[in-house]
Amino acid sequence: MTKIGVLTSGGDAPGMNAAIRAVVRTGIYHGYQVVGIRRGFAGLLAGDIEQLELGSVADIIHRGGTVLRTARSEEFATDAGQAQAYANLVAAGIQGLVVIGGDGSLQGAAALAERGIPIVGVPATIDNDMAGTDLTIGFDTAINTAVTAIDRIRDTATSHERTYIIEVMGRLSGHIAVAAGLAAGAESIVVPEALITNQQICERLQRGFQRGKRHSIIVVSEGAGSGYAISEYIRAYTGHQPRVTVLGYIQRGGSPTAQDRILASRMGSYAVELLHQVPGGSQMVAIRGGQIISLPLREVAGQPHTFDPELLLLSQILAI
Ligand code: F6P
Repeated sequence: MTKIGVLTSGGDAPGMNAAIRAVVRTGIYHGYQVVGIRRGFAGLLAGDIEQLELGSVADIIHRGGTVLRTARSEEFATDAGQAQAYANLVAAGIQGLVVIGGDGSLQGAAALAERGIPIVGVPATIDNDMAGTDLTIGFDTAINTAVTAIDRIRDTATSHERTYIIEVMGRLSGHIAVAAGLAAGAESIVVPEALITNQQICERLQRGFQRGKRHSIIVVSEGAGSGYAISEYIRAYTGHQPRVTVLGYIQRGGSPTAQDRILASRMGSYAVELLHQVPGGSQMVAIRGGQIISLPLREVAGQPHTFDPELLLLSQILAI
């Protein structure tokens, strides 16, 4: 193997740039020619490929987003799209590929690998919803962004003695809501994996106010429903006038935390080591108990990864 490629795909996540940097520099360290494929699988289908040198990835370790840019490609999801993608890899002389992205991207990578190219997936999504790994690149930054925002909202919540609902991202998983809610001391955390009814939210709210609480923070994961709908219910049921903040895409951007930079550097570098030492098949880099490991990509892509339920229980005990 002499030439390897790297691409980022799906929703961007802080730390993707640090992972690209690690792939490029470890690849060059081992004597490979490294190319970057722009705009994920969409760019692969368009043949949008550039040579990357040591200096191409200078000054990016601290930057959010992805310098290779990213996309969600519907064409790549088709059989014809994957055949074309494979043909483009062969035509470009790419003999091994590192795919940095979330679960959908790594499922696509697993399918592409079956056509005959070694691929290593690097899990990167703010949602932390990927099986086999304790953490995905971007999650730590996203929860820190959410906690900073909730802390600010708490200032105004205490001043006005109000209830605030903060809707966070996470697609169908509650990782962000549970981690940010626990760290920010939320009174209630609403997640798709352990749904509570609007009435239960109201009863918890009322119990708190009866005990003397003068404000309340409710964190809702987008997959559990709309913060605005919960607000309407609370308004009708309790007479409170909740305020709603949807944090949205600010959770996806921003400079990665030190933890995400370190994780991305370790995972990106290990992805190249895997191509170097085990040139064949498809694998995913993961971290478990602090150790960087590899797993068969086919076995983990598409599998659920739920949060530790004890964290949710702890948040409820501490918000009593
Ligand atoms: O997967 C990351 C994520 O930000 C999810 O939390 C969110 O549901 C989704 O992407 C939004 O996707 P899009 O970028 O297509 O709007």
